[in-house]
Amino acid sequence: MPTAVLARPDDFDGWRAAARGFAAAGVAAERVVWQVGDAPTDLLAGAPAPAATAPMFTVPKAFLEIARRVICNADHERFALLYAALLALRDRPKLFDDAADPLVRRLYDLDKSVRRDVHKMRAFVRFREVADASIADGGERFVAWFEPEHHIVRLNSGFFARRFAAMRWSILTPLECVHWDGELAFTPGATRADAPDGDPLEATWRTYYASIFNPARLKVKAMTSEMPRKYWKNLPEASLVPGLVAGAEERTRMMIEAGAAAGRSNDEVQAAIAGDVATPSPERATAPLAAGGAGVAPVPSGDAPADRLAALRDEALRCKRCPLYGPATQTVFGEGPTAARLMFVGEQPGDQEDLAGRPFVGPAGQVFDRALAAAGIDRSRTYVTNAVKHFKFEARGKRRIHSKPDTGEIDACRWWVEHERGIVKPAVTVALGATAARSLTGKAVTISRERGRPLRLADGSEAWIAVHPSFLLWSEDRAAAEAEFERFVADLVAVRERLAALG
Ligand code: URA
Repeated sequence: MPTAVLARPDDFDGWRAAARGFAAAGVAAERVVWQVGDAPTDLLAGAPAPAATAPMFTVPKAFLEIARRVICNADHERFALLYAALLALRDRPKLFDDAADPLVRRLYDLDKSVRRDVHKMRAFVRFREVADASIADGGERFVAWFEPEHHIVRLNSGFFARRFAAMRWSILTPLECVHWDGELAFTPGATRADAPDGDPLEATWRTYYASIFNPARLKVKAMTSEMPRKYWKNLPEASLVPGLVAGAEERTRMMIEAGAAAGRSNDEVQAAIAGDVATPSPERATAPLAAGGAGVAPVPSGDAPADRLAALRDEALRCKRCPLYGPATQTVFGEGPTAARLMFVGEQPGDQEDLAGRPFVGPAGQVFDRALAAAGIDRSRTYVTNAVKHFKFEARGKRRIHSKPDTGEIDACRWWVEHERGIVKPAVTVALGATAARSLTGKAVTISRERGRPLRLADGSEAWIAVHPSFLLWSEDRAAAEAEFERFVADLVAVRERLAALG
């Protein structure tokens, strides 16, 4: 039987060359044996794919895009299904417009499963820092363990290379491992035991997760569908989930009792502890935020800070003060304890923050967390927010490329930052980058000139200026990036010491 031997399970180029040869020779889909590896193992296998002689008929670009992903699916029929689709496209170039066609449906399903796996890998890879003995002058490598369902390591490697260009990293998986040392390299699959198992960063993650966990918002079904249980074992924060879930009812009861003791009705208490629903107030009911940003809805000043912050967040979810709310997924509001003495203001949510609805959870967030840990600052005791609350981006195909907010957008959003600061009343606010510095001071600030010393803000409190963590992420020059990281940590240490001195 005609046989195609592919070099790897995700060998798209090999599949394409073989499929072209078979199609040109008029070989029916059901006759071809597809194999991965060096030698055919099927007893019936024999004749190799003929070389394509006639020029290939053209296929829609969209088919090739889908095929590149479907090839990565672990389903052993994928090569044959794609070849059948290729043959069908010769007579029906618009085949893929017919989503009801069983072959098209099957391929779309395989594609969807791969895309989901790609997304999970991006969301659930957690790097752990290890000393790298292969580096002569000492140095660290960030190593992660992930168990993909499909052969997506190569497909996803460009994403990680772009995001973590300034770090040395490896992602180990049972199927194949990928390494970055300024260029990508691949090695055969590893075992869980090859990956480091926990480091000090894990404790930070766990503290952080425990502090933001709100028992009243517990939705086990949603949690398990977004974060399937198979990934839990590799996430430091996941080890807390069963205990937090088990204790959720008790914690909710205690919150209700505390609210009742403060004289609030059951409905108000329920709404307030849900965190995303503000306690109703007549003031807010009569002063809604006007679209376009002219109106200001005063946040009731008599309530407890947590209620006022919840009310503010609720308003912000409906913010239309500038056009950025349109394309973004959601408002990404600040988070952290209302009693925090230290506040961080970033620029704006990135792609992952926009999807998660939380600040600094993507790649810049990882650098930020690493720097905080190095500086001895517990993120769960700080309030973290952004100068601009919606993700501003340019769509390029399916990618959303970060775009810098302009001064009009920063000024429109300052209203929220000022109210957050008015409620939290931090002793020190750190501006991460130029956008945050402009938001806090109302004018353009040169980071290199102002960093590392306190500035007095209009309300009398202190601001410190630091670089934005993504500045450290994108640098091509590794030595310079490491030096910048150390400077960033030093700035954070100075802030920590200043806070201690302020008492
Ligand atoms: N960059 C920011 O400034 N804020 C975030 O929340 C994420 C990335």
